[in-house]
Amino acid sequence: MSDQNPVFIPGPTNIPDRLRRAMQVQTQDHRSPAFVNTLTPVLAGCLTVFGASEAEIITFPASGTGGWEAAITNTLSPGDTVLVARYGMFSHRWIDMCERHGLNVQIIECPWGSGAPADKFEAALRADTAHKIKAVLVTHNETATGVRSDIGAVRGAMNAAAHPALLMVDCVSSLASMPFEMDAWGVDIAVAGSQKGFMLNTGMAILAVSDKALAAMDSATLPRTFFDFRDMLTTNAKGGYPYTPPLQLIYGMAESLNMLFEEGLENVYARHTRLAEGVRRAVEAWGLRLVAQSPELYSDTVSAIYVPDGFDSNALTEHAFATYGMSFGVGLGEMNGRAFRIGHLGSLTDAMMLSGLATIEMAMADLNYPVKLGSGVIAAQDCYRKTAKPVLTEKAA
Ligand SMILES: Cc1ncc(COP(=O)(O)O)c(C=O)c1O
Repeated sequence: MSDQNPVFIPGPTNIPDRLRRAMQVQTQDHRSPAFVNTLTPVLAGCLTVFGASEAEIITFPASGTGGWEAAITNTLSPGDTVLVARYGMFSHRWIDMCERHGLNVQIIECPWGSGAPADKFEAALRADTAHKIKAVLVTHNETATGVRSDIGAVRGAMNAAAHPALLMVDCVSSLASMPFEMDAWGVDIAVAGSQKGFMLNTGMAILAVSDKALAAMDSATLPRTFFDFRDMLTTNAKGGYPYTPPLQLIYGMAESLNMLFEEGLENVYARHTRLAEGVRRAVEAWGLRLVAQSPELYSDTVSAIYVPDGFDSNALTEHAFATYGMSFGVGLGEMNGRAFRIGHLGSLTDAMMLSGLATIEMAMADLNYPVKLGSGVIAAQDCYRKTAKPVLTEKAA
């Protein structure tokens, strides 16, 4: 029966029944004239979720990692310099990918638990008077540490330095859960995936690409075939795909967008903030500490939580899974063994969240953590009771 438990990993997230049903469809011929009616609304809906008006939406049958690769290979050439701050596992992996592609990566090392350092970006960009830096890469929501960075501040730093580099943002674990403003932040490429805020299974990388980034393709010489933006745009314009599309995921995405717009994006973001706040109150009641260094960095999609000295966070997540059939995120990289993560994004309600908090509390009590059983649940209940909105609409009532 434990397969009915929700997951509390920060993606892939719980897939609502409505989306599972939407994907249970017979194969459609992607070369038929009808395919355009399937794909076009999905591209238009994604544009809204990215907070963009003009960008091109490009989907690939891939995961977020494929999206990173598409972003760099379409716009950069071997030896180009990119500026990146490393403050967690995902910023680290994007750096690693850039290095493997022969890019010159200028890294700003930051403590894990901090976010994108706009001031340091500005200093580096001002120092680059020859404009060797071709792109600034930022992880919006560092899933390993539960840190949300201020992308507007990074754009501000680039403007202050009057630097023409492209701004590429990984919003894999923030899009469709926390506000994202591609236009307002002047983002050139934003990279997301289907398996987090969109509540679907993994398998589709979703990118929003500015005209400036598309123009960079003219001179970019990194090899690309599968991930070629132009091949995708040319075929999409004719209602097709350059190869076999992930059809069921496209159907799922259409329904996911319906769900997000029915709830209203602002309400989706507010729900994530509420759920996250309940988790943060629980962490405080347990006497534990978040990895995120300060409140303005707190992520509304994932909390990374230090275990007390002398405890092993892997033993905790293993015990929760083995005993109660419930999954929580393990600590990644530097945080392995030191912190566990609670994913609170996607299709989640107060009741689901409370079940997760109650379960991890039981697991902590079993392992003799100095945590009072029930304390975190009570703190979260208090938070949810005070901020609850009736779920019955007037009409339904
Ligand atoms: C912030 C962030 N970026 C990139 C990725 C990589 O995405 P994927 O695992 O879909 O390749 C992840 C995955 O969790 C992520 O959280």
